[in-house]
Amino acid sequence: MKNIGIIGLGYVGMPLAYLTAYNGYNVIGIDNRDETISKINNKIDIPKELQQINYSELNLYATKDYTKLKDIEVIIICVPTPTVKNKPDLTIMENVIRSIGNHIKKGCLIILESTVAPRYDQ
Ligand SMILES: NC(=O)c1ccc[n+]([C@@H]2O[C@H](COP(=O)([O-])OP(=O)(O)OC[C@H]3O[C@@H](n4cnc5c(N)ncnc54)[C@H](O)[C@@H]3O)[C@@H](O)[C@H]2O)c1
Repeated sequence: MKNIGIIGLGYVGMPLAYLTAYNGYNVIGIDNRDETISKINNKIDIPKELQQINYSELNLYATKDYTKLKDIEVIIICVPTPTVKNKPDLTIMENVIRSIGNHIKKGCLIILESTVAPRYDQ
């Protein structure tokens, strides 16, 4: 396993992207915010815990383009699952899963890091 995709590059996904790249994986990060993508690709605003890393050697690339996931073996989903009127809103997560489904290869492992309530039924 060499290629990891991380969807949602926020509080959870961004450090995870850096750490998996630091540990030798090729990492494609996907986020819907241009500013986030730009920060990662330009290696700016890195959390202080990660500032010892030599960023120039990392295989870490951020994009909005889901087609870049075609050779990925593991995808970790870290998008928000907010509560709205005391109910979980899984819309973002569900849309991301649909987008992933159009591009992944057979056998790809998908890990859901986003919070989902046990036995939640819309
Ligand atoms: N914060 C924690 O300690 C923690 C721990 C474990 C799990 N979680 C869960 O992980 C999930 C993410 O939490 P977070 O704190 O990192 O959230 P966050 O808001 O910091 O980051 C979410 C990221 O997802 C991106 N995003 C939003 N919509 C998107 C879309 N449609 N496509 C691609 N990217 C999109 C945002 O731009 C942002 O960069 C939540 O479900 C949360 O409950 C959080």
